[in-house]
Amino acid sequence: MTELEKHFAVIGNPIHHSLSPQIHSAFAKEVGLHIDYEAILSPLDEFKNTIHQLIAQKVSGANVTLPFKKEAYELASQHSNHARIAEAVNTLEFKNDEIIGHNTDGIGLVRDLEQNLNVDLKSKKILLIGAGGAAEGVIYSMLEKKPSELILTNRTIEKSNVIQNKMDVHAKSFDVNLNVIEIAKCPHQYFDVIINATSAGLNNTELGIDHKVFHEGSLAYEMVYGKETFFIEQAQSQGSKTSDGLGMLVEQAAEAFFIWHLIKPQTKSVIESLKGF
Ligand code: ATR
Repeated sequence: MTELEKHFAVIGNPIHHSLSPQIHSAFAKEVGLHIDYEAILSPLDEFKNTIHQLIAQKVSGANVTLPFKKEAYELASQHSNHARIAEAVNTLEFKNDEIIGHNTDGIGLVRDLEQNLNVDLKSKKILLIGAGGAAEGVIYSMLEKKPSELILTNRTIEKSNVIQNKMDVHAKSFDVNLNVIEIAKCPHQYFDVIINATSAGLNNTELGIDHKVFHEGSLAYEMVYGKETFFIEQAQSQGSKTSDGLGMLVEQAAEAFFIWHLIKPQTKSVIESLKGF
């Protein structure tokens, strides 16, 4: 570590599994920057103190992962548009005594779909399963791409209704039909893209979605990465294309890297190098 190096961190609990230090180090190496990026385990009730300690140590920015994205939103004194709408923050900039909160998760998902998986979302029909923070964090970025319809579903359907009410004004502004359907009724329709934004894959539990939801020609996208989840297995058994969320992870990191350094790193080689981790 030298005086000239800028310092960054990712904060979560747990954090030992995080690939962010590797990803940001790979980006920095590729573009010729010297940075120091470390993973910090914050006690669950100490997030604010952890951030203030980092600021005192002259850290320039931090990524925030589970379970602190809402707290990071509340702590930030300024917000990007995406962070304000998602009410969640995954990237912090510490600048001139301000804490600026961004959310790059949605941009990461959309870039992975469009640039790495070659799925143009415009005029497509998308099913988003889940109504927690992971789902809410990506909806605005998907609406911006003007699919014909974005359908929300969740085990607890009331939560999807709440999100629909909140996001409807944005859906209208992009001319997208934003609807909710019960999980049992999903198999009656064809979707170009089916996104699993639930945490079921993390615990490898079944999602409770019928295999008839999946079709040949659909893309089933699992936000969890590095695991053959039930969702992926189900989709593959029906001949759907599948992807896990590794590309989204790298793309959201690339956008955070751009926010901090104003340089866009290459992502494809980093995604390839992390497959199998
Ligand atoms: P996150 O921030 O990762 O989204 P969360 O806010 O706890 O985490 O939300 C978890 C999501 O996964 C919810 O949509 C949850 O469904 P409920 O709202 O019905 O709880 C969904 N989920 C988790 N385990 C699930 C399972 N086994 N089957 C279906 N949905 C599941």
